[in-house]
Amino acid sequence: MTVHFIGAGPGAADLITVRGRDLLASCPVCLYAGSLVPAQLLAHCPKDARLVNTAPLSLEEIVAEMQAAYAQGQDVARLHSGDLSIWSAMGEQLRSLRELGIPYTVTPGVPAFSAVAAALEAELTLPGSCQSVVLTRTSGRASSMPSGETLAAFAATGAVLAIHLSVHVAEEVQQELAKHYGAVCPAAIVWRASWPDELIVRTRVGELAAAAQSNALQRSALILVGPTLSQQDFGLSRLYAHDYDRRYRPRGDEPRFPAGTEGA
Ligand SMILES: C[S@@+](CC[C@H](N)C(=O)[O-])C[C@H]1O[C@@H](n2cnc3c(N)ncnc32)[C@H](O)[C@@H]1O
Repeated sequence: MTVHFIGAGPGAADLITVRGRDLLASCPVCLYAGSLVPAQLLAHCPKDARLVNTAPLSLEEIVAEMQAAYAQGQDVARLHSGDLSIWSAMGEQLRSLRELGIPYTVTPGVPAFSAVAAALEAELTLPGSCQSVVLTRTSGRASSMPSGETLAAFAATGAVLAIHLSVHVAEEVQQELAKHYGAVCPAAIVWRASWPDELIVRTRVGELAAAAQSNALQRSALILVGPTLSQQDFGLSRLYAHDYDRRYRPRGDEPRFPAGTEGA
């Protein structure tokens, strides 16, 4: 028996991985985070599967469900929104399973920031402009931020910031970021990226708070800030330059990787 943690993706039911879908289909028990996981994904579960929405449950109750399945030798699919490596509460569940000696696997999912970048048709890292993306959030009731991880500290790097769980404090985000990026720096708020009711608002740092009013009641939104969101005057990547000598496309009289050594 194994508990399979599966990233459900950002919302669209077809943005789960093939491995995640197949695991769902193979597990007689599915525990899913009902607040953010699309109901259509549950259609992949076996017809008679036990489906449990964990949104109203405590950690102890969730682990008890896993223990009960373990006692019966039933595999469990544990679905969390987006990817499991960020803000999924997977870490505490894995720790409990390790203590209990219950086996598990982890299957990644498409994170929200990727779906948001796709909605904006943006490459966030552009040559000569920005080469880093910071996935962050502001303090919330459930989690405070470590003292070094302030928006100001990240903004000082000039990286693209993908700010989660923060659309309700857009005014504070705006004030903090304007000091570093300037009011005219491109920004965007995307609500429910990849869901049928996705909403995209392109704006600027100085107008973030006003932009957040477009859908003030809905908190499932990501704020993206950085020059590359609408940049057109960026350089070319050397990767595809006709004279760039690389392993899979040797160039010049003395290529670093002569033809025939590609697989070496
Ligand atoms: C608890 S975190 C989960 C993050 C998730 N594990 C991931 O990989 O993206 C929830 C936050 O992610 C962002 N988010 C999740 N799904 C989103 C979506 N479809 N569109 C925009 N933002 C989303 C929002 O900032 C939301 O408040």
